[in-house]
Amino acid sequence: MNTKKIELSELSKRIDPVVNMRESWYLVTAEKDGRVNTLTAGWGALGNLCEKKTAIVYIRPQRHTKQFMDASGRFTMTFFEEHQQELLFLGSHSGADMPDKIEQAGLHSTSVDGQPTFEEGKLVLNCKTIYQDALKPENFTDSALAEANFPDKDYSVMYIAEIESAYEILA
Ligand SMILES: Cc1cc2nc3c(=O)[nH]c(=O)nc-3n(C[C@H](O)[C@H](O)[C@H](O)COP(=O)(O)O)c2cc1C
Repeated sequence: MNTKKIELSELSKRIDPVVNMRESWYLVTAEKDGRVNTLTAGWGALGNLCEKKTAIVYIRPQRHTKQFMDASGRFTMTFFEEHQQELLFLGSHSGADMPDKIEQAGLHSTSVDGQPTFEEGKLVLNCKTIYQDALKPENFTDSALAEANFPDKDYSVMYIAEIESAYEILA
């Protein structure tokens, strides 16, 4: 698999958080003990903190992928141009019940800079967690938002991560 490194200063030209995260989704993927798990995500952000270029993902506590993220302190964000059906599958099946869900979805795992991603992806960010905390219902200025989005009180953990590198995945 061929890749082309992307300068981090160019990232905002390549990823629009509204279009590429909210509308097209992406995969959050992490590795633990030689195994890889992934989930489909729709919430997220790009920014900067402590003079580092950062990405933010929001992961509910029951997600199997969370264990992999916490064990490694790392994750990748992989963006696709197509494969919406596969992302829907990965976003509705848990690796806790279906350990081979990536194969079942028809995607092919690979790695870039030693971090897990997918041959079918178009762009991958290698991320190292620098800060994490659960959203707190009392900190929502509009409690209706917390109630509507977290009826089961499974408040997402916000992971702020340094983007260590970014690659275009070439065919
Ligand atoms: C379009 C879409 C967006 C999603 N966004 C998120 C998200 O931002 N955070 C999250 O924790 N789960 C999100 N999910 C749900 C997870 O992808 C889903 O629960 C997945 O099966 C978890 O897999 P895992 O248990 O193997 O980690 C989303 C699902 C879909 C279909």
